[in-house]
Amino acid sequence: MLSKNRGLFLVGLVSLAVLLLATACAGKPATPTPTKAPTPTTAPTTDTPAKGKELFATKGCASCHGAEAQGGVGPPLAGVAEETIKSKVRSGGAVMPKFTTDQLSDADLQHIIAYIQSLKK
Ligand code: HEC
Repeated sequence: MLSKNRGLFLVGLVSLAVLLLATACAGKPATPTPTKAPTPTTAPTTDTPAKGKELFATKGCASCHGAEAQGGVGPPLAGVAEETIKSKVRSGGAVMPKFTTDQLSDADLQHIIAYIQSLKK
């Protein structure tokens, strides 16, 4: 009777809540994976030096600067300032080729910078 009705009402209420929860979750956009946003000027410390080291090898830097950036055809890079790295990579040098953003994206360059900075003593 009344208690039975109340029971049904509760069941309805619970299923409604479950339904609402389910739709709320389904409607929520998947949390975007934080791909490396171009860091304005500072704090490349959040970049992974390991990723940078990998790029350093795959992009060919290592063939001139050595696998550990210890120097080779090119000079050792430990301690080189971020701005120097950026301008050198983008403009090139007497021997060093320049890398366009097509060849090496800003995000990847930032990883390489993080790697080089991790070499600092
Ligand atoms: C073909 C060989 C070669 C490649 C490839 C190369 N470099 Fe170089 N790099 C050099 C040479 C040689 C110099 C010295 C300046 C000159 O003569 O161009 C240099 C200079 C630099 C400097 C300036 C160092 C200083 O003390 O001022 C930086 C930074 C640098 N390279 C980073 C890189 C990075 C990062 C990459 C990969 C994206 C790279 N280089 C790829 C040969 C190379």
